Amino acid sequence: MASYEELFKNNQKWIEQKTSQDSGFFEQLSKDQNPDYLYIGCSDSRVTAEELMGLGPGEVFVHRNVANLVNSIDLNVMSVINYAVRVLKVKHIIVCGHYNCGGVKAAMTPEDMGILNPWLRNIRDVYRLHKTELNAIADEHQRYNRLIELNVEEQCINIIKTAAVQLSNLKDGYPKVHGWVFDIESGKIIDLNINFEKILTDIKDIYDLTSK
Ligand code: CO
Repeated sequence: MASYEELFKNNQKWIEQKTSQDSGFFEQLSKDQNPDYLYIGCSDSRVTAEELMGLGPGEVFVHRNVANLVNSIDLNVMSVINYAVRVLKVKHIIVCGHYNCGGVKAAMTPEDMGILNPWLRNIRDVYRLHKTELNAIADEHQRYNRLIELNVEEQCINIIKTAAVQLSNLKDGYPKVHGWVFDIESGKIIDLNINFEKILTDIKDIYDLTSK
């Protein structure tokens, strides 16, 4: 683990590395941002955003919280989504969960966790929605993994429910929403292949916000 002082040395090395490859790197970086991707992931220190996708500065707008949740009354994530869609006009929104997620594990634990209770409640609600499927999985670790996947899918649906995403798709045909799980044991990104078009059509029964 790097010491606190080393962080500044690392920063200096990073500056030198970037400018040796491209002397105008920071001049270009300071001008504007025009990322194609919004990434919503877990705060877990093992699951980076840019690095696991091989992307660099300026290429991805990032939001991370405990267990990659998208809650409609969380002003933080909703501001990020609205800005990314309406101003940055990102083409893809990715929700990336990960196996061995402590947040999801905590939501499967019958214990009072104080201020985390209302946050983890969102995951317990995902469990309730998919209780039949989940309770049919005898192996606890497999059930845990499946809840991690279902949690990602439900957060994707929460994003598709927003006016920003519905209206932008109607007008421009993007952004598409994708659900991923990062397999922490192999480093692989697994695309859950959610059916974005179908979800977008289906949610309009109840959540349509596109009529004038
Ligand atoms: Co996590």
